[in-house]
Parts: sequence; structure tokens; C-alpha cells
Amino acid sequence: MKKLLPTLAASLLATGALAQTTPPPATPQWRPAYHFTPAAHWMNDPNGMVFYQGTYHLFYQYYPGGMVWGPMHWGHATSPDMLRWQQQPIALYPDHLGYIFSGSAVVDKQNTSGFGKNGQVPLVAVFTYHDPKLEKTDPAHGQNQGLAYSLDAGKTWTKYAGNPVLKSPGIVDFRDPKVTWNAQTKQWLMTLATKDRITFYASPNLKDWTKASEFGEQRGAHGGVWECPDLFPLTLNGKTYWVLIVNINPGGPNGGSATQYFVGQFDGRTFTPLTDKTKWADYGPDEYAGVTWENAGPRRLFLGWMSNWEYANQVPTSPWRSAMTIPRELGLRQEGAEIYLTSQPAAEVSRLATAPTTLANVAVKGSVDLTTRLKTTSAKRRLTLSTRQLAGFELVVGNAAGEELVVGYDAQARQYFIDRSKAGKRDFSPKFTGRSTAPRLTTAAGADLTLYFDAASVEVFADHGLTAMTAIYFPTKPLTTVRLRSAPGVTFAQVSSAAVVAKPAGK
Ligand code: FRU
Repeated sequence: MKKLLPTLAASLLATGALAQTTPPPATPQWRPAYHFTPAAHWMNDPNGMVFYQGTYHLFYQYYPGGMVWGPMHWGHATSPDMLRWQQQPIALYPDHLGYIFSGSAVVDKQNTSGFGKNGQVPLVAVFTYHDPKLEKTDPAHGQNQGLAYSLDAGKTWTKYAGNPVLKSPGIVDFRDPKVTWNAQTKQWLMTLATKDRITFYASPNLKDWTKASEFGEQRGAHGGVWECPDLFPLTLNGKTYWVLIVNINPGGPNGGSATQYFVGQFDGRTFTPLTDKTKWADYGPDEYAGVTWENAGPRRLFLGWMSNWEYANQVPTSPWRSAMTIPRELGLRQEGAEIYLTSQPAAEVSRLATAPTTLANVAVKGSVDLTTRLKTTSAKRRLTLSTRQLAGFELVVGNAAGEELVVGYDAQARQYFIDRSKAGKRDFSPKFTGRSTAPRLTTAAGADLTLYFDAASVEVFADHGLTAMTAIYFPTKPLTTVRLRSAPGVTFAQVSSAAVVAKPAGK
């Protein structure tokens, strides 16, 4: 939230938007079936994602006093599979040190923090305190890092009496600590967003932090402030690489907020990227603040906020605002001289899909209506497409009201795209753009796409996750019809459709 924080808070306060108002009429038609939303009120970034004793904990930026961004709390939800969520009491409330901004959580197995008593393993949350008073008088010292710990597996949290543990050295944007155990140095490593770069800090006990290095002042995209970073290893062909995620707002490839990343080496103190090409974990307009789960085993699991700061405060849902993406599993792939991050739906997501209807050898020249043949009557569905010879095409999901959402491939531009221009309500913000594009990053002849549609969102994973795109939209009726269009003609070896059903937790 580059300058957005002061500007947003000030303008909202000025217009009275932060005051308690009666929410507009409820919009259950846009409540996702299998994406996390709070029952009511405002949500932004996922925070403190940690897997512990069989449970996924999701904390999130939450304002329980209204449906627009406001004094930040950490909301809390738990799940056995990152899809069926149980809302929990708010974990962290603002206090005299400030609002509770984004951060992470770790399992302090060796009790390095000393918070554990009698052999208990503490969960420790590391977050940013944003002091709304200092923001006005001395903004360079308004963001500092604090700790809270839980001794009952994440149920209740106690703030550390010695907070803050890492004070701003005089940087306005000094936030969003992502902490992990650094096996190389046998210390904790904090990856922190510090305005236009990342600063790494090290600590033996989570309480005392020393600066290790900086990265990025001259690297990557700088159209906005750097926020919500993450650093983790992934292997490719038996070799370990380090991925540095840097969320940025604004300056994304389709405007507003987006998630960029770097692939490189990390020697325990310093990050060095392999190349200088700017890369994006998701090219669509509506994935932001995405980071990965801590302690989740060999998979590297990612979750993002499914909105964009350009219009998040105006989206027409009620009584809640914003959802998270589906959980995604990250990987690496080499294409030419570059190594890219791949994102695929986590295996758990496909377990919510019913048995698919699969059509083989679907030749499309002009327009083909597949609604009846694909059988699925629900707009909440998974569609997959594969072809041995990719050509320009459009997949159109629509309704009887004439609304349609188009996902396709533009062969001339070598771009995938999502066009929500005619997909329903758009008048809530001029910044809610129609068409977004993403490069195709492989030269392979064939292609595959997996698309997850919920009540008001689509997530596209193309070329085995090499290109991901997320977009939200607000149709007046569910988009239940499916057509394929192609002017040059394309044959899909396979087209499949399956309803995605949210099963209650425990099933
Ligand atoms: C990103 C962000 C973070 C900040 C939080 C405040 O969306 O701006 O940098 O900690 O939101 O809610």
C-alpha cells in the first residue's frame, strides 16, 4: 500500500467511509463456495499461514468494524485442507503500539524464544505494528516488528511484553516480516519489505535481530512499494534454487497490485538473482500479497488475496469484502535460458471436484456450444482443455442475461487473456479493468489449461502452471453456459468439466 496507507486511511476518514454504516443488501450469489471469505467485514492479505498438528492456520488482515480497510486485526480460520474453513475468534487486536499489519508465523520447535514453558512448543507470530499516530507526525518510525505467541496450538495468542523487537531505522515502509528457520546459519531469517528493497535480518531467538543484507533496489519491477515478501528453496533437476517473492503495489503487469518473484541463490545471508527478467507469479489483476505456508512438509504451498488495491474497497459484495485464492503448489521449470516459478492448484482442490465429463477431439472452427455436452449445470466448476497444436481461441462462459466471461489465447500476441468487460457489474470503480493479458512462456506446440470458476472468480493455470491468471467478476446471474470459439480453428484433444462442491469440514 504505497502511500496508500496514509492516503487511503485519510480519505476514508474524510469521507466518513470508516464510520459504522449499515452494510448494503447482502450478495450471497457472489459468496464463493470453495474460497475463503470472512463471514462479514473487510479482509486483505493472508498472514501467518502455518500448518501445525494436522491443521492449516490462516490468519488475515481484518477490519471487524466495517467493510472497508480500517484498523487492522489478525482474523483467524482453521482448515484440514485449506478449502473447508472454520472461522475462529480474532487472534490479534490492535494495541497501544498500533494496528496489526501483515506478517508470518513459525513453529519454534526448539523453543529458541523461551516462550514455551514445561516443554511446550510455541507458535510465534511475527507481524508489523503500524502506529496510526506516528504515521501522521513521524511516518519514518511508524512501522515496527512485534511478536505474539501461542501455547495452545494457535487458539489464543499473547503479545510479547518486549515489543517491538525490530524498530524502523527511519524507513516509512518497513513491514511484512516473513520469518523462516535458516538451516545454513542455524538462525531465524526475516525477509522484510523495506520500501524499494528487501532487507534480510537474522536472529537466534526471534527477539534480537541483526541486519544481514539488502536486495533489489535496482532489480525487478519498481512501479510501486515492495510489500509482503517471502523466501524459500525449491529444487529443479536435483538442484536447489531460492525463490524470492516480492509483492508490489501498484506496478503490476495489468495495473495495480501483483506478485513478482526472483529465482536465484541464497547463501544464508545474501540473495543473488540468476537473471534480470521481471517475472510474475500471477498475471491477472486479482492475486496479491501471496506468500507460502510454513511447516507444511515437502510441498511449497501458496495462497494470495483475491483482489486488487485499485478497487478492493469498492467491490460490490456484502456483508464481506474479499476472498483468498485457492491454495497453489509452487514448482520451478526451465524454459530457454530462464527458470520460472510454476503454480498449480494444490491436490486438495481437485478432491472437491465431482467426476468430470470429458469430451475427446473437440474440433472448434467458429463457435461451438458445449453447455449440454459438458453436463455440469453449476457455474462453480473446473474446466480443463488440452490441445496438441495451440491456436487462437476463446472459452466463453455466459448466462441468459447476455453476460460473458472470456478466457483465451491470442496467437499473434502470444498471450493468454481474461476479458471480464461483459461479465456483469463493473460500475463500482473505473479502475476495474476489462481485459488482462499474460505472456505464454513456452514455445511448445501443445497446451493445457485448468480453470477454476467460483461464484465470482476465475483462476487460470496454463502450460502446467507456467502462466497463472486470477480475476474476479460480478455476474447478475451465474455463468453456466460454455462455448468455445476459434477463427483459425483448433482441435482440443480433451475438454472436461466438473462441478466443484464445497464439502463441509470433516467429510
Ligand atoms: C499489503 C499491505 C501490507 C500491509 C497490509 C496492511 O496489501 O499493504 O504491506 O502490512 O496490507 O493491511
